[in-house]
Amino acid sequence: MTPFDRRLCVAPMMEWTDRHCRFFHRLLTRRALIYTEMVTTGAVLRGDRERLIGFDPFEHPVAIQLGGCDPRALAECARIAENFGYDEINLNVGCPSDRVQEGRFGACLMAEPALVGECVAAMRAAVAVPVTVKCRLGVDDQDPEAALEAMTRSVVAAGAAALVVHARKAWLKGLSPRQNREVPPLDHARVYRLKAAHPALPVVLNGGVGDLAAAARHLEHVDGVMMGRAAYHEPWRLLAVDPELFGAPAPFVSPKAAAAALLAYVERECARGTRLYAIARHLLGLFHAVPGARAFRRHLAVEGVKSGADARVLRDALALVLDSATDLAQTAA
Ligand SMILES: Cc1cc2nc3c(=O)[nH]c(=O)nc-3n(C[C@H](O)[C@H](O)[C@H](O)COP(=O)(O)O)c2cc1C
Repeated sequence: MTPFDRRLCVAPMMEWTDRHCRFFHRLLTRRALIYTEMVTTGAVLRGDRERLIGFDPFEHPVAIQLGGCDPRALAECARIAENFGYDEINLNVGCPSDRVQEGRFGACLMAEPALVGECVAAMRAAVAVPVTVKCRLGVDDQDPEAALEAMTRSVVAAGAAALVVHARKAWLKGLSPRQNREVPPLDHARVYRLKAAHPALPVVLNGGVGDLAAAARHLEHVDGVMMGRAAYHEPWRLLAVDPELFGAPAPFVSPKAAAAALLAYVERECARGTRLYAIARHLLGLFHAVPGARAFRRHLAVEGVKSGADARVLRDALALVLDSATDLAQTAA
């Protein structure tokens, strides 16, 4: 297993952090811990496993996030995921969508800490890799002090290796999942207090972390920070993770150099029948304040969706971007 720590994690995001996205993110940072989208136990047990949870070994360290509330099913899925090679198994106790509420898992489990403890204990008994939980501060009219404390005690007693806390409540009725990521107020101080009350438990703070400077500030209070939307929409930020948070060299001198390194993967995937845009859509935010960034996006959005589009479209799109680190050096030479 690749050694990892949780100082910087890229959040699980449905329909966003698929295997192509994760491969791309891994080019930008060798150290961040990256998460899959949530996969339900039903899907893992009955679906096309290779398609649902298969991943490229280059993605390590990578955690799978499971959604479910049946300890036996979760234990079985954890075992399957460990055999696939995942480095960590995470249980979703934060997703507020209606579909999830019908299944009685996700955020509504905030009201059932004892059951979450049983789930964690069952998964722990099934695998050797760490089992972690991602939760909210509470749901609906729960008191966030008591609800988060009860959840923490239960998962610590069950042997969870870390707790990721999305630092806002979820409102189970009346808000869409998207609103539930924006409307309930953030309370980072509550997560700091949690860490102070449980110094031995690795605590990862999530929610509203927009840049690495903010991440570094949170790291003075907690063990790890999880970035979601900022990492996805502005993946160029990930290139600074290794030098700024881990004291390690950046994998590439520039976002353009990282994208160029993705071309071989794109060629391989397109040859297997993957549509270019399934990969390229994750790159749209790669360039920031760089001449040609808009032309790059437009080229991918227009040419990348055409049938038969392949790595050449990405190569042409990249040629539209001035890479301050390499192109200027070449111009000067
Ligand atoms: C498109 C999208 C999909 C998400 N899917 C999941 C998911 O599958 N599991 C989960 O625990 N959280 C999911 N989330 C929530 C994020 O993991 C994270 O908790 C949330 O976006 C707050 O972090 P941020 O402010 O850094 O984005 C999703 C968020 C987004 C934007």
